[in-house]
Amino acid sequence: MRALVIGNSDGIGLATTRALLARGHEVTGISRRAAPIAAAGYDHIVQDVTEPRYRDVLNDYLARHADIDLCIYCAGIGARLDLNDLARQTQTFAVNLMAAVITTEVVLGHMIARDHGHFIGLSSIADLMVSPQAPAYTASKAGISRYWEGLGRALAGRKPKLSNVRFGFVDTKMADAPLRPLLMTADAAARFVLGVVDRPRLTATKPFVMTLLARLTTLIIRSPLSFLFVPRN
Ligand SMILES: NC(=O)c1ccc[n+]([C@@H]2O[C@H](COP(=O)([O-])OP(=O)(O)OC[C@H]3O[C@@H](n4cnc5c(N)ncnc54)[C@H](OP(=O)(O)O)[C@@H]3O)[C@@H](O)[C@H]2O)c1
Repeated sequence: MRALVIGNSDGIGLATTRALLARGHEVTGISRRAAPIAAAGYDHIVQDVTEPRYRDVLNDYLARHADIDLCIYCAGIGARLDLNDLARQTQTFAVNLMAAVITTEVVLGHMIARDHGHFIGLSSIADLMVSPQAPAYTASKAGISRYWEGLGRALAGRKPKLSNVRFGFVDTKMADAPLRPLLMTADAAARFVLGVVDRPRLTATKPFVMTLLARLTTLIIRSPLSFLFVPRN
């Protein structure tokens, strides 16, 4: 299997890349820093997904690897709101939403033309929430979740497959909230992603009970408790 993992120098993307390589797959990674991986079957493209040339980088990759089987979009940032610096919120949309949309257009578009493949996007259970602490994070996740789930429904019964993966708290640098209920390791998150590779799902949520917590928090959103649910970096 040939896979492209975007946002894999760290965290869930790195753990997922390692898990794919352990299965013997050919993997290419994309992120601003190189991934700490020196394994046969791995190569890396150093690229910021918010730069204009990102689209060309994806097209170049697809020209070389038209037989791609799997793409996993893991790139993400979460910025705490600073009312004196809304540019960080804009940057959050650029990575979590617009670059994910461009990746979907180019890579899923290629897969649709070939009736083949599986596109997995990493979103978050935070897609349910309204957050005064990190409004761009929750809004970008809401936007990308609804987009991927709508596209996934449009692809129902045919190939390629599209899966939207929604995590709660995963122990990476992004998740440094004061309370991290039901925290998962990055390796456990990667195992879950590999389960989705094996069995595509329109929406795959882990842990599911966090959905109830997020909904409850949204009900009391106008309360300070909401900060407990939002990753930051
Ligand atoms: N950790 C959690 O609790 C949690 C919960 C729910 C959902 N998620 C989602 O899971 C995904 C992965 O998160 P994580 O926890 O693994 O975060 P992470 O450890 O901070 O890793 C984020 C990855 O995204 C890459 N990235 C960030 N900005 C980029 C850019 N402009 N261009 C290219 N690559 C970029 C980073 O690489 P470079 O810095 O080298 O570019 C890094 O490899 C995100 O979408 C996140 O929202 C995480």
